[in-house]
Amino acid sequence: MEKYFPQNYFKGRHVHLGVTGSIAAYKALELLRGFYKAGLRVTVALTEAASRFVTPLSFKALGAEIVYTNMFPRGVADEFDLGCDVLGHLTPGAQADAMVILPASATTIARIATGLADEILAGQALAFPKPIVLAPAMNPRMWANPATRENIATLRRRGHIIVDPDDGLVACNETGTGKLSDLRLAYLATLASLSPQDFKGKKLALTMGPTREAWDPVRFWSNHSTGLMGACIAVAAHLRGAEVHAVCGPGCPWLPYGIKRYDVKAAREMNEAMQRLWPDMDYGVFSAAVADFYPLPFGDEKFKKGNAGDEISVRFGTNPDILAGLGKQKKDGQKIVGFAAESSNLEENVRKKLKSKSADLLVGNLINRTASGFASPLNEVFVHDKSGNEEHWETQPKAEVAWRILDWLTRL
Ligand code: CTP
Repeated sequence: MEKYFPQNYFKGRHVHLGVTGSIAAYKALELLRGFYKAGLRVTVALTEAASRFVTPLSFKALGAEIVYTNMFPRGVADEFDLGCDVLGHLTPGAQADAMVILPASATTIARIATGLADEILAGQALAFPKPIVLAPAMNPRMWANPATRENIATLRRRGHIIVDPDDGLVACNETGTGKLSDLRLAYLATLASLSPQDFKGKKLALTMGPTREAWDPVRFWSNHSTGLMGACIAVAAHLRGAEVHAVCGPGCPWLPYGIKRYDVKAAREMNEAMQRLWPDMDYGVFSAAVADFYPLPFGDEKFKKGNAGDEISVRFGTNPDILAGLGKQKKDGQKIVGFAAESSNLEENVRKKLKSKSADLLVGNLINRTASGFASPLNEVFVHDKSGNEEHWETQPKAEVAWRILDWLTRL
């Protein structure tokens, strides 16, 4: 999860994680770990029921600064029960930047919906001044009950963020809606609540990954792109409030459901998808490694090797240049980010490509560096914009590069 998120932007921010009584409580440990790896400070509150499934010690061992378990001192404070001070129900609301409750039980949801503060976590939720992310998990009949439905509707109406549970087999062996959702969604929703909303109301379409050009039913022409750079940009823009449309070549990574995803294979399909999206967009980001050429198809039958001699020749046709084509159709206010993968003369080629493709910002990298570029979580880039501003960014995680590109876009 962490490879999508830039440490520099989140480091030191404070998340308060509430855990309630559900068999899914153990998953909160993984969530805590993800936050911790992204450089966040984490405090935790366990309801009494949660403490029956997971222990404060586990959270403490995985990096939680404080684990609150009680509203009132119990006489002799136990070593990890640092929350037994009488203001423990108020502290997270005064200090934390975001709050997430995972799993959120029907009881805690009901407490928050009705404003009860009769135990530590509900008290902290009531005293938390910003929207809270809640990831419910419960038996499907409890989730379907009108009481829970109304409580959830109340929380949504008040601006809290509900990460809906999934359908499937739940721990009690019943099938239905109630299973804790994919952890990455609560993780992302929490990071979104920590992110600037500087792309709110904006629409961004991007191409990502390789394209795959079929030759016969089993063979194709493609390249080494994994789509990670594009995924980092898509996630960054999503967290920062943009409506994101991602046109993905084969093998692209998982993207959160809030991003509209269009899976394509060949460059011509990618072009068609972008042509449809572009008129309505504010930004176009072209991070795909589009195959410039496609093999003229051999046909529907597999090419048998016995038909070749010592060598074969395959003829290629030319694919459309998606970026250059849309650059020509750019309307006032639309902004384009292009990429350039070069084996030499990086700066010169980047400057040329910005002009020839009518881009506003061009991000180039050298493909022969082992620690950056294709299939690496890192990138070392040269950035050039249409006003002639230029910067070299040393090797850094692609997530950092993505956030810095968006920062630059807001200034263009
Ligand atoms: N691009 C595109 N459609 C293509 C080729 C490239 O949209 N058919 C976009 C890429 O997504 C990237 C930019 O154009 O944003 C530059 O791609 P790159 O492969 O570096 O350059 P090419 O234009 O293909 O030129 P060359 O291969 O000669 O370097």
